[in-house]
Amino acid sequence: MTAAPVVEGVDLTRHYRVGRGIFTASADLKALRGASFSLPAGRTLAVVGESGCGKSTLARLVTLIEPPTSGQLLLDGIDATAADKAVLKTLRRTVQIVFQDPYGSLNPRRKVGAILEEPLAINTRMSPAERARAARDMMARVGLRPEYYDRYPHMFSGGQRQRIAIARALMLRPKLVVLDEPVSALDVSIQAQVLNLLVDLQEEFDLAYLFISHDLSVVRHFADEVMVMYLGRAVEQGPRDVVFESPQHPYTRALLSSTPVADPALRGEKIKLTGELPSPTDPPSGCAFNPRCPYAYERCRTDPPELKPSHGRQVACHAVAEGRLEEMQAPKPVF
Ligand SMILES: Nc1ncnc2c1ncn2[C@@H]1O[C@H](COP(=O)(O)OP(=O)(O)OP(=O)(O)O)[C@@H](O)[C@H]1O
Ligand SMILES: [Mg+2]
Repeated sequence: MTAAPVVEGVDLTRHYRVGRGIFTASADLKALRGASFSLPAGRTLAVVGESGCGKSTLARLVTLIEPPTSGQLLLDGIDATAADKAVLKTLRRTVQIVFQDPYGSLNPRRKVGAILEEPLAINTRMSPAERARAARDMMARVGLRPEYYDRYPHMFSGGQRQRIAIARALMLRPKLVVLDEPVSALDVSIQAQVLNLLVDLQEEFDLAYLFISHDLSVVRHFADEVMVMYLGRAVEQGPRDVVFESPQHPYTRALLSSTPVADPALRGEKIKLTGELPSPTDPPSGCAFNPRCPYAYERCRTDPPELKPSHGRQVACHAVAEGRLEEMQAPKPVF
């Protein structure tokens, strides 16, 4: 028997009412238009896509900061969308989040020790001495020196602050940690250290990671599964190696061909992304990617494609499903 996934999303959507100004009618902004995924302990699902495609919205749903507009969210096998307050309170402990900005996410008026002990003070009956010990243990695990216990966040660099934020996220021993661009604000030299730390902690605590990043070279090393999002929807989803080595959706191909690849043998045909990301309040009909897609045909302008299994992953593309992409282009190596 396999254990229940740590997190499971079933067709999650999130809409926002926007634009209730004096001169503007209100509209529904569809930030997330149906995300489904399942993540077991110890594994990483990476969510990638351009700014505004709904990555942080998904993060807020999964961490129970906001409820979905529709769909189902299961944490540890328990339906969070149907849970009462008491159950939600317990579920909140099982999932934590680390944000991109290590400067804004830590209370500047509290010392590191107090920051780490706060979740324990609120959620457990541990004594002050036990909390202090737990905080010091966690500091050692994330590579913070013991004397930092009495220092304030402003005394630290971005990388060290991110270690504090990670330590804080782990104090309640969550099963799932949502990492929303956790290293994007850090110097490249520091990024690798923090990523290595995250890998070690994942192994030690058997953590599931929902890893949000726009940096595909990071995702390539870090993820087990990848979900490529476009305008609130997954367009391609599957095991990392399958998606990275033979991307099928034209959007995935475009994203991948815009990231530098060191090995010339891995360079495939180039698809350039032209045009702007459309507005989520007024998404194009049919496939949302059709106005920017070099392979779009009539059907793509009217009929929204669903995710369908295709060569070991799922893809939402009519041209892929109908085998048109292979006919239309033989891969052209670009050197
Ligand atoms: N509270 C909100 N009210 C109204 N619109 C929102 C709200 N939060 C997000 N949005 C909109 O929802 C869409 C998705 O936003 P989201 O923050 O999830 O994108 P993202 O993929 O995380 O982008 P980025 O890479 O820039 O962080 C955007 O169009 C955004 O403007
Ligand atoms: Mg975001």
